[in-house]
Amino acid sequence: MASRIVTFNLNGRDVEVMVKPLTTLQTVLREHLRLTATKSGCRQGGCGSCTVLVNGEPVLSCLLPVEDVAGQTVVTLEGITPVEGLHPIQQAFFDNYAIQCGYCSPGMIMVIKALLDRNPNPTRQEVMDAIAGNVCRCTGYESILRAAEDAARRLQTV
Ligand code: FES
Ligand code: FES
Repeated sequence: MASRIVTFNLNGRDVEVMVKPLTTLQTVLREHLRLTATKSGCRQGGCGSCTVLVNGEPVLSCLLPVEDVAGQTVVTLEGITPVEGLHPIQQAFFDNYAIQCGYCSPGMIMVIKALLDRNPNPTRQEVMDAIAGNVCRCTGYESILRAAEDAARRLQTV
């Protein structure tokens, strides 16, 4: 099948890519646009490491054909990272030792960002529910939960 052009807003600017049918958003981000903060773990919807925000909602970019985000707004970890320093959620991950090997961190941070955007003061159970689809192979879930709670506090005082 013929390639087609897909246009969407990525991290605040419009981008245009030419792709073969069913090319995933993950492949476009990592291989076409070289934005590698979005990780590639299982590539079958089971780990959450590829999570990005589409119109503010977390989605698994490894399962999403990029055609489905035509005209939509996509945000990756690169899009929330300031030019200098770190986003408060990133800083909270750093300060709470929630980044171990770091492979799950981008997906975790994007899921937690979506949660805190809609619920600035979540309970621990709500954080656990939010990250339920995100696997940390290093198993440091306690530090990730602490980081999410710390990030909520930091964002409320910004
Ligand atoms: S790489 Fe997408 S869920 Fe694992
Ligand atoms: S920090 Fe290593 S997979 Fe989560």
